[in-house]
Amino acid sequence: MTTQSPDALPSLARRQQAALVDEESARRLAASGLELRLVGSDAARDTWLQTVARAFLDSERSAEQLDANRERGAYRRPVGVYDPSAPDPDAPVGSVASWVTELTVPGGETVPTLAVSAVTVAATHHRRGIARALVEGELRTATALGVPVASLTVSESQLYGRYGFGAAVPVASWRIDTRRAGWLGPSPAGRVDFVSRERFRALAPALHERVRTGTVGEVPVPDGLWDTFAGTRPDAKDAGKTRAVQYADGDGEVRGLLLYSVDENVVDFARSTATVSLLLAETPDAHAALWRFVLGLDLIGEVRASELSVDEPLRWMIADQRAAHVEVVDHPYVRILDVPAALVARRLAASGVLALDVADPLGITGGRWLLRVDEEGRGVVDDWPEGAPAPAGSTTVTLGVTELATAYLGGVSLATLAAAGRVTTSDAAHAARVLGWHEAPRLSFWY
Ligand SMILES: CC(C)(COP(=O)(O)OP(=O)(O)OC[C@H]1O[C@@H](n2cnc3c(N)ncnc32)[C@H](O)[C@@H]1OP(=O)(O)O)[C@@H](O)C(=O)NCCC(=O)NCCS
Repeated sequence: MTTQSPDALPSLARRQQAALVDEESARRLAASGLELRLVGSDAARDTWLQTVARAFLDSERSAEQLDANRERGAYRRPVGVYDPSAPDPDAPVGSVASWVTELTVPGGETVPTLAVSAVTVAATHHRRGIARALVEGELRTATALGVPVASLTVSESQLYGRYGFGAAVPVASWRIDTRRAGWLGPSPAGRVDFVSRERFRALAPALHERVRTGTVGEVPVPDGLWDTFAGTRPDAKDAGKTRAVQYADGDGEVRGLLLYSVDENVVDFARSTATVSLLLAETPDAHAALWRFVLGLDLIGEVRASELSVDEPLRWMIADQRAAHVEVVDHPYVRILDVPAALVARRLAASGVLALDVADPLGITGGRWLLRVDEEGRGVVDDWPEGAPAPAGSTTVTLGVTELATAYLGGVSLATLAAAGRVTTSDAAHAARVLGWHEAPRLSFWY
């Protein structure tokens, strides 16, 4: 997929922004007296945003916040469901936002993905199929445009399997007892300095771009989100709590950035807590130096961090592993919209032939394919006609599109899914080697 021309992604993104709403979902909602519409004008976007804020338990947005959002939220395609019989027919009763971006896949390549966000239904209208119509509609629209994958981060983990999304990137939350942790890691020669949040805001986008293209599971941070992370939005709450730190290497190049905040322990001041909201490191030195810095903060007894890789090298940098309490949770979910395109977009980890029988309850990309992988890990996909036997020497794999998405980034092994009864295969070890990857994927933020 990275072999496309460089303007292919922006062009795909523009076409997705402008696409009409899905006819099937519009028809389904119309049968219940509801209208599915693209949200166009500034006034309509403001009202739409109020509905989203309410569903996510936020306060009503102020005029200042609505103003700020117009530019910050422009990258998204907002869609609403409207009830003409409601007292305020201009306020949507359902919402979704999506945009085309790119997902880093094994092998250092990227694949276009439909990022989905802001899925809400007003409590007055919930459990009537509105969210299903919205999500399915946006998936069908993206599929028709040729977007091979979709992805999202979720408020509740049981919501999206029904649409074929799989939990593709398990991540870890850490609580570290700093008094106990000790340090076995390196002491890099570069320097660590406090910087302003504005400087963090200025440096972070380019650094993140370099980091995310080398990290399976990452997607670009939409530009408007940087002000939210850095606390540089004019309407940011408690912005002053956020501290920013940079790591510069021996040549003075900034290779790492850290954002954290502290919470005072009122009983024992010297056991206060620091929470890392983002640690971006382009080099192992930057990674080690920033972790060493935060674990060594005065008056801090506990450091918390989340959305870390499940194979975080920090485990091997602290002297006492039991100083860390680690909890693994599901983070981004991935949905495959085009099985052949998604499979050839990533590098495979072992050669051979997989005869894949993929079931898709939404009928978007189910089918039978032969994935032939060469010694370089490059795959080609051919149809595997119904009734034809699997080629001699191939490994058969029968699975749902959710399970394929779960294994797609190498975060979960097909052998594990087979042991869990979610995949049937003639050779679990071979199937796992082909779709596996040597690095755990990671997504370091929410969208
Ligand atoms: C999540 C939310 C959008 C679902 O809205 P809804 O009106 O129930 O949506 P639908 O009626 O289309 O239901 C879709 C499916 O999800 C299921 N579902 C809805 N809420 C659920 C929940 N909390 N737990 C498990 N399943 C749930 C429904 O049973 C339905 O299943 P089915 O289609 O397989 O029968 C709504 O509850 C909401 O706005 N929640 C707050 C905001 C939020 O968390 N959004 C999700 C962001 S990732």
